[in-house]
Amino acid sequence: MNPSFSSAFARYSMRPSLRNNLIIALAVLVSVVAIAQSVSTYQLCRTGMSALLDLRLEQVAMRMRGDLADAIPSAPARGSQPSRDIVITIRKPGANVPLRSTEPSLSLPASAPAGFSSEMVNGERWRIYTLRRDASVIQVAQRSSVRNELVRETALTTLWPTLILLPLVLLAVVVIVHRTLRRLTPLGQAAQSIDAAHLNPLPVTGVPGEVLPFVESINRMIERLAQVIESEREFIADAAHELRTPLTALQLQADNLQPHIVAGNQERFQELRNGIARSGMLIGQLLRLARADAPLDAAIEPADVSSIVVDAVSGVLPIAAARGIDIGADAMLADKVVASRADVAIAVKNLVSNAVRYTPDGGTIDLQMRREANALWIEVTDTGPGIAEESLPRVFDRFFRANSSTQVDVEGTGLGLSIVKAITAKYGGQAVIRNRHDGRSGIVAAVSFPLASV
Ligand SMILES: Nc1ncnc2c1ncn2[C@@H]1O[C@H](COP(=O)(O)OP(=O)(O)OP(=O)(O)O)[C@@H](O)[C@H]1O
Ligand SMILES: [Mg+2]
Repeated sequence: MNPSFSSAFARYSMRPSLRNNLIIALAVLVSVVAIAQSVSTYQLCRTGMSALLDLRLEQVAMRMRGDLADAIPSAPARGSQPSRDIVITIRKPGANVPLRSTEPSLSLPASAPAGFSSEMVNGERWRIYTLRRDASVIQVAQRSSVRNELVRETALTTLWPTLILLPLVLLAVVVIVHRTLRRLTPLGQAAQSIDAAHLNPLPVTGVPGEVLPFVESINRMIERLAQVIESEREFIADAAHELRTPLTALQLQADNLQPHIVAGNQERFQELRNGIARSGMLIGQLLRLARADAPLDAAIEPADVSSIVVDAVSGVLPIAAARGIDIGADAMLADKVVASRADVAIAVKNLVSNAVRYTPDGGTIDLQMRREANALWIEVTDTGPGIAEESLPRVFDRFFRANSSTQVDVEGTGLGLSIVKAITAKYGGQAVIRNRHDGRSGIVAAVSFPLASV
């Protein structure tokens, strides 16, 4: 993994996430409320159910008088009664053997207190309601295990709505938080696309009120930054422009002076003239860099790239021919790009002049055009010495010169590729330099510009 990417990833993954924090906090809150509500409903339901079952025992006992009691057989078949049913026993006060019973094998304790009681009978616990009347003792009983089962079953059914709703509410929490925070995503993308060539303010439409002051202050900062960069660019452009006039005058004076220089001093005088020429080149490049950094004009007339490539080749043809360099352009395309013709021409000329400057005599320089997605690429491939891999990341830096020995007398200023980068960045294109991969020495220098729609 690319080290800067992995460190950026590590930094990002360690950051507290507003979205995750919100989701976790809300999920915990919803779950706690759901659990508390379920427990209390369960308990209330159990208490209510027990009271209801007690009421049933009491009501059955109350009704067991007269004819209804007579309906109970005096000697029903033993063990014929389902275990879930209630057992009714009627006996004379003081008598141990009941007069009537729905389950004669069960002998409910005659001594049980009036009202509700809980007793062990035949190794099982029973809930008993005892009603004493003058002439009889009525006992209505139910197995505690059956009661408990009924209570549990009913109470458990109250948990279903919560069990179904909880995952739905948790899902809703995730969706709501996600959708709310998604409104910040365009902001992040806009902020990421900001660089020295694109100092556009962040969009404020649809930005939540809480974030708006933050976005507005960033926008004010971007505005100030753009002003500072623009005034720095204007200063460089003005300074280069102002320096051009005295330098041209100096050059003229040197030209006029040459015939008067004695033969012995001619060599040193030539050095002086070369120095003046180099300063002139540096000022020219500075001016071009300042212009490349200038903000875009509102309307751009699409530029025809093939004619620019042909012009660039014919511009260096005399020097190339003199040095036996085979320079040619093939795979020409008729496409136009969204960029000013002058800018594209400067970018292509810089790449071609580099190729000529660094390719040894008898070498080859190829220019090619290719379409890729929505961009048009112009590639310049040479048979020069190439560039050390460790220097490649810096070739676009201002004033950077790699250790490539020039094949011409004039040394470069180290600004050519910075100008290329500034021009391509201005139009949303790219500039790429790499060593050749086909086993030959040399570099492939390429620039891209957005294709104009036809
Ligand atoms: N085709 C090439 N072959 C080998 N090295 C190159 C090539 N093009 C660029 N370089 C290296 O990259 C450095 C930066 O190039 P750049 O064009 O920015 O500056 P320059 O050519 O030195 O000066 P300028 O273009 O301003 O006259 C060069 O100094 C050179 O070392
Ligand atoms: Mg150059």
